[in-house]
Amino acid sequence: MRFPSIVARYPHFLHGGDYNPEQWLKWKDTIWQEDMRLAKLAGINSLSIGIFSWSMLEPQEDEYHFEWLDEMMDMLADNNMIAVLATPTGARPAWMSKKYPEVLRVNAGRQRNIFGGRHNHCLSSPVYREKTTAINIRLVARYKDHPALGVWHISNEYGGDCHCPLCQERFRSYLKGKYKTLDALNQAWWSTFWSHTYSDWDEIESPSPLGDMVFHGLNLDWKRFTTEQFVDFYLHEIKPMKEFSPLVPCTTNLMGIYPGIDYYRLAEVMDVAAWDNYPRWVGNEKDIAVGSKAAFCHDIARGLKGKPFMVIESCPSATNWQAVPKLRRPGAHVLQSMQAVAHGSDTVQYFQFRKSRGSSEKFHGAVVDHEGSEQTRVFKDVAEVGRRLASLDAVIGSDTPSKVAIIYDWNVRWALDDAKGFLQDKTDYETTVIDHYRAFWSMGIPVDVIDSTRSFDKYDLLVSPMLYLLRDGTAERINAFVENGGTYVATYATGYVDSIDLCFLGGFPGPLKETLGIWNEEIDALFPEDENSILWQGKSYRAVGLCELIHAKGAETLGVYGSDFYAGTAALTVNRKGKGRAYYIAARTGPDFLADFYGMVTAAAGVKPLLEAPLPEGVTAQARSNGETEFVFLMNFSGSAKTVDAGSAGILNLAPFDVRIIERKCSKIPR
Ligand code: GLA
Ligand code: ZN
Repeated sequence: MRFPSIVARYPHFLHGGDYNPEQWLKWKDTIWQEDMRLAKLAGINSLSIGIFSWSMLEPQEDEYHFEWLDEMMDMLADNNMIAVLATPTGARPAWMSKKYPEVLRVNAGRQRNIFGGRHNHCLSSPVYREKTTAINIRLVARYKDHPALGVWHISNEYGGDCHCPLCQERFRSYLKGKYKTLDALNQAWWSTFWSHTYSDWDEIESPSPLGDMVFHGLNLDWKRFTTEQFVDFYLHEIKPMKEFSPLVPCTTNLMGIYPGIDYYRLAEVMDVAAWDNYPRWVGNEKDIAVGSKAAFCHDIARGLKGKPFMVIESCPSATNWQAVPKLRRPGAHVLQSMQAVAHGSDTVQYFQFRKSRGSSEKFHGAVVDHEGSEQTRVFKDVAEVGRRLASLDAVIGSDTPSKVAIIYDWNVRWALDDAKGFLQDKTDYETTVIDHYRAFWSMGIPVDVIDSTRSFDKYDLLVSPMLYLLRDGTAERINAFVENGGTYVATYATGYVDSIDLCFLGGFPGPLKETLGIWNEEIDALFPEDENSILWQGKSYRAVGLCELIHAKGAETLGVYGSDFYAGTAALTVNRKGKGRAYYIAARTGPDFLADFYGMVTAAAGVKPLLEAPLPEGVTAQARSNGETEFVFLMNFSGSAKTVDAGSAGILNLAPFDVRIIERKCSKIPR
């Protein structure tokens, strides 16, 4: 399957990134010109502009200055470059905060911020919304037919929340819309606990250290409301864009698994998913973990819309805000960039093109250093990425055919973060999901990462680590998936609470009990120095952190606990149901178990790795397919040289950070 390219008229990888020509306005006759020359030399064909330009575009209320942007847009067009043009709402001019304090955010402690920073605005403020429309309308009216315009970059890294009176009012209306009556809300939030019963809507307040921080129903609905605030604000922002430039795609830059917004929900209103990729590379074998986490985030970005996405920011060198801004090792930048492509990105974009001269990002990696020439090591790395991308047009728009889905769900994460029961602050939802993901990554089996609202139909294997909260309809859809022949894997901490965070009565895993054929009676939390074991297929595997005491109720017991008072009881089960089967892993395990277990499960489910021969540790294979050709990317994250048996493509020697692309006809895919 082949999707259209992100900019329909431009079927090439976008290579480029954030550029702030307004910081260099006084030097535009020299630096702007030089930047065009350098961009060409680096194989850069796109720049993202206007991201934080509000005070340069509207230095005083209703006084607009677009001349500099006109000039830059023309310059990009003259140089055959695509503009990713931003709305400037990520940061506001100082005059606006002074004149209209309501635009400033109020924190959870109910204190209004003062001017400064960025992302410091109230999404409910009518003034902020009016000012946003005013600038966005002018941008679209001015540039809708501009030959450089390729993509609308809406705001920047939406995040945080606001607790002002206007937001409280909107929260209450959201709750009224959802629950209709106070009785229903009181019931849903279990408000008789600690005498929290509300007798009027206006008694409801957002979570705050001055009031409630551990009222689960309130917390969960606040998170959902905050997501809806961003959805609503995004829709507000793009209204003029959709009216006057309907063919130009709109996106906003997401932050991987940032916990504050349910990205699967936000993505519903975005034309294309885009994310900012900042892995913390270390330069040795620890990069295997870093690489698999980055892969997971790329697969989320692809899963958001089920199609190619944009890596709209990444760093070409050291990232200044990381605790140890390590220099990129030779080859690592090419690997980071090709990894994005391998997982479905149709762009490689950076923060930033030219390193800024002042303020907090002056030492953040950039394509063009303060030194200013094309002679730097980083510049040459970027140019190498440019060269590689230029030869990969056939990959543009191609799909990632995958038969396995792993569920990562923001609602589950929110509820688990609150759970207060089994490991207090260490429920480790993300790391657990990534541990399971890594087993597939290591085998070279492509995976889609989806949330529990997405369709399961096209998959042979569905894995849902710690699916603690079941959203409405999820259990029914999982049941149907198994009945129809799918293989399903669930783990400890599954099916404890319903979509409003109330515990299921009648035994866990709630409505999944029959599908899984088990009853989970209790969960044991282990001290860090303790461990149990799972005995399975003649081997003993470590069990750590959490061990559930389950009873097989129809399921077959495959593995049992090795010690403690529950030694010999079920720890790993399989239930045959309809045409499918459902596995349950009752304890947290190490990677050795997950590797063996998923090796067995994928073989039983008929899911094949991209290469027949096993991959060496730290090497992964990912694929993109345009319907005719399948491009298999082999990538070495191990920090040492590795040899890969690539079947008909021969034996390949991969140096540290090496990437090879094997092309094969789609009909030959063994899947
Ligand atoms: C984020 C922001 C950018 C920049 C980079 C630095 O991704 O969107 O504006 O601050 O971080 O890494
Ligand atoms: Zn507010």
